Amino acid sequence: MSENELSGEVYYPSKQIVKKAHAKCEKIYEEASTNLEEFWAKEAKNLHWFKKWTKTLDDSNKPFYKWFVGGKTNIAYNCLDVHCETFRRNKIAMIWEGENGDLRALSYFAMKRETCRFANVLKSLGVKKGDRVTIYMGRIPELAIAMLACARIGAIHSVVYGGFSVEALHERLEDSQSKVLIVADGAYQRGKIVELKKIADEALQRAATVESVLVVKRTGHGVNMEAGRDMWYHELMNLPIANNSCSVEIMDAEDPLFLLYTSGTTGKPKAILHTHGGYMVGTYTTLKYVFDIHEEDRYWCAADPGWITGHSYIVYGPMLNGATSFLYEGAPTHPYPNRWWQMIEKYGINILYTAPTAIRGLMRYGDAWPNRHNLSSLRMLGTVGEPINPEAWRWYHKVIGKEKCPIMDTWWQTETGMFMITPMPCTPLKPGSGTKPFPGLVMDIVDEDGNSVKPNEEGYLVIKTPWPAMLRTIYNDPDRYVNQYWSRFPGMYLTGDSARRDEDGYFWVIGRVDDVIKVSGYRLGTAEIESALVSHPAVAEAAAIGLPHDVKGNAIHTYVILRSGFVGSDKLIEELRQHVGHEVGPIAKPETIEIVDSLPKTRSGKIMRRVLKAKALGHDPGNLSTLEE
Ligand code: PRX
Repeated sequence: MSENELSGEVYYPSKQIVKKAHAKCEKIYEEASTNLEEFWAKEAKNLHWFKKWTKTLDDSNKPFYKWFVGGKTNIAYNCLDVHCETFRRNKIAMIWEGENGDLRALSYFAMKRETCRFANVLKSLGVKKGDRVTIYMGRIPELAIAMLACARIGAIHSVVYGGFSVEALHERLEDSQSKVLIVADGAYQRGKIVELKKIADEALQRAATVESVLVVKRTGHGVNMEAGRDMWYHELMNLPIANNSCSVEIMDAEDPLFLLYTSGTTGKPKAILHTHGGYMVGTYTTLKYVFDIHEEDRYWCAADPGWITGHSYIVYGPMLNGATSFLYEGAPTHPYPNRWWQMIEKYGINILYTAPTAIRGLMRYGDAWPNRHNLSSLRMLGTVGEPINPEAWRWYHKVIGKEKCPIMDTWWQTETGMFMITPMPCTPLKPGSGTKPFPGLVMDIVDEDGNSVKPNEEGYLVIKTPWPAMLRTIYNDPDRYVNQYWSRFPGMYLTGDSARRDEDGYFWVIGRVDDVIKVSGYRLGTAEIESALVSHPAVAEAAAIGLPHDVKGNAIHTYVILRSGFVGSDKLIEELRQHVGHEVGPIAKPETIEIVDSLPKTRSGKIMRRVLKAKALGHDPGNLSTLEE
């Protein structure tokens, strides 16, 4: 179909963008759809393998797919050592600015040195290949160094987002059976200190497996150090053991690289497992083509390394590409709402990748803040995490991108590891659509029976081809992996999202169809919020739902039944909000808590959240035949 025939509001990329692009679009789509395995094998050859793979894709035991079978590599080696053999040795790998104005820049050489030193520290504490290490910090370079150090020695990292709190951290420590916790004393956020070590101390009282706690001094505000368990990172790094060279562990392509917990439909968060080989090839390739990273670029993904976006596109993807990545510690509006725009000008950022909630949040302050700054270095923009409303898209495009920067609306998940639905630099854009699947991927929208729906009809978003960065399993729970993702429609990966496809084949993601709530792009399960509420002595039962919110996308609304003897009051409601914040994290604090006498349930006792949601929105609750009362 020629470009002119596209329907609706369409933005065409400029000739300069298309000409500069690594991805020669038609060729790449054609190559990948003609031979998916060959496409990925060709990309994999751009990376270093200690031993080449014998089979690109092994699908003999579906859905336990394997990629680059027999290949030996190490993602951290590809992120650092490989570049240190070239001119990139002196190139800046990471530029960091703290919220309080602290600055650091690390070359690839320095990043490798720090990683090796810390890897030696971990080894001296007895950390071996396959051991789990939990990392809980704000956005500071040590977070990336700790991840890369684990990867270098074959340990499995499990990063817990610094915005999570006591119970969320405890659950993740316990489930991963981590021996070591790497934590910062605190983090600066909105001019205040988030006391990470204090939260960790409380979580550690509930978790038994952790033997050593390594504390990075960021805020220096004074923390409790437990003798025999807690050690300062900077002191360890000054010991002779922390020397600059550390041999790299040769990893099988399918060896685990990390666990990242994410919310699911029911119960506790699940540990998504990614591997060294496939994840490496997937993140390297997608970042290179989609954001069209060039040697001279300064790239900024403003997500948090504690979420998959940060794993794939702050740490691994950029470093595999030898890019210069910018990391900022704090809040976008601190001390003023021009902080981001100021830093784009100051560092000459070329590529900015963020979330709709941040765009909407900054848009509220008006155009004058960005207009005070020279943003002409920007060439590409990106968004991720939730659907972007066209109004925010247009503002981002016009006021930030000055109508010259394409917006890469990338749809993907913790589970997919890499971009799945995304434009390429050559793709005509429509505000609010991620456009089409990445080359070679087959995705579809299906009805209840798994049949493709007609254009513009809503249905379940599914993936029909394997991809290298796909999750391999849920750690220690392969049955849940199969049930959760591969059982609803045989042979198809269930994303949990609903979507439609327009007459041009463009995908429009609508939102989650399960009990996952996206709050400011962060993924939370209703179950986590409900169990935090129920862990308060006043609460007998609780239900959480997500309702639309202008800036956050969705906000959490909850209903609670009190235990007998407790009386509802504003004070109690505030106490419950704080309790959820303390257990799960500030992002999980409910917008509203309504005290009720009963909750709508099915005869088997399951809370019917869709009924609560329909009632709150004033919609028809639909079929109520399974409602008990
Ligand atoms: O609902 C989709 C939404 O985020 C979910 C995945 O969340 P998480 O695993 O935390 O990963 C987020 C960052 C990759 C998806 O199931 N989502 C993500 N990107 C988009 C999106 N929804 C619409 N448009 C997007 N670009």
